[in-house]
Amino acid sequence: MLKGMFTIAAAATLLGAAVTAQVQAQESVQVGLVLPMTGPFASTGRQVEAGARLYMQQHGDEVGGRKIELIVKDDGGVADQTKRIAQELVVREGADVLAGFGLTPLAMATAPIATQARVPMIVMAAATSSITEKSPFIVRSSFTLPQAALGIARWAAENGITEAATLVSDYAPGHDAADAFRKVFEEAGGTVIEQAAVPLKDPDFAPYLQRIRDAGPQGLFVFVPSGVGSLLMKQFDERGLDDAGIKLIATGDVTDDDILDQMGDVALGAITAQHYSAAHDSPENKEFVDAFKEANGNSRPNFMAVGGYDGMHLVYEALKATDGETGEALVEAMKGLSWESPRGPVSIDPETRDIVQDIYIREVKEQDGELYNVEFDRIEQVKDPVKADWSQQF
Ligand code: DHB
Repeated sequence: MLKGMFTIAAAATLLGAAVTAQVQAQESVQVGLVLPMTGPFASTGRQVEAGARLYMQQHGDEVGGRKIELIVKDDGGVADQTKRIAQELVVREGADVLAGFGLTPLAMATAPIATQARVPMIVMAAATSSITEKSPFIVRSSFTLPQAALGIARWAAENGITEAATLVSDYAPGHDAADAFRKVFEEAGGTVIEQAAVPLKDPDFAPYLQRIRDAGPQGLFVFVPSGVGSLLMKQFDERGLDDAGIKLIATGDVTDDDILDQMGDVALGAITAQHYSAAHDSPENKEFVDAFKEANGNSRPNFMAVGGYDGMHLVYEALKATDGETGEALVEAMKGLSWESPRGPVSIDPETRDIVQDIYIREVKEQDGELYNVEFDRIEQVKDPVKADWSQQF
């Protein structure tokens, strides 16, 4: 009798396990999107989320036989919060994918969680070269600062600038940008005569700009993160660098589409290099911009939105390839994927898990009564030069 009961109980347990497994197989794929939705970098969070949501709106919420569920969490741009939220997402909510990461320190803090939990981590915004080396589970859909900086350094050297200064935000992507600019510019025969690194928090560019104006370079190379470009432009104007004939050259973060139109005439003529412009001339981008504006009260997508959009594309395409399997298989399926993004043709380098993309040289111009980054040249299929080869582009 006892033995019989045990057998029934064991069978029930087994049946329960089988049912659980089946339910799990049909369970939704949870994508935990951790972003700064409040604080000084909230525009990054807003843009990445809107890009990810647009992708889902256009492609449905079922792929590889599984439903996709987006869980958006606000880290306020604070690394300890990002890490804590990511941990909770994987442990308590069973998230299958971590995504977002609006700033480098936020991505760096979360990398060990992705490794320990063996969960794919899609970096949709942060852009320091070394991020992808912090976990084998990281795949990046944004860009790297050295990709953008090499484009503008090359343009400067080829367009009569022999002496330049650099001004960057004083944290990892700023140092990546300044180092890359200097390396390429000096190899092409130019000299960097002044270098400034400005605190990331509550920056005041004025004293640094004054020092640079006094040094009198022909060009000033700038990187500041998305959202900060307006203040930089205002102080560049106020300190008279424009009047002194110092040409503003920058990564596209400075003339970010989210804020560019409000910058005014001082921005006109700025030359920047980057992977995305809302004015990129392709049918895919026109459709993307129109749909984004429609869904977001007529506001323009910037490069952060494209990072979110393409990051979801990675998740969808990989889930199709694995038939709904997540974990390590999903990362494997992302390696080598290539597609036509609103930014142009892109792929995921299977060795580094970083994005390979065209880098465009653009000029701020008025188009249809608004300021845009108008692309006029491009370097095709640029790999992150720090992890690949600096000479690949020349
Ligand atoms: C990073 C943040 C940005 O807003 C940006 O435009 C580029 C890089 C970063 O912290 O990695």
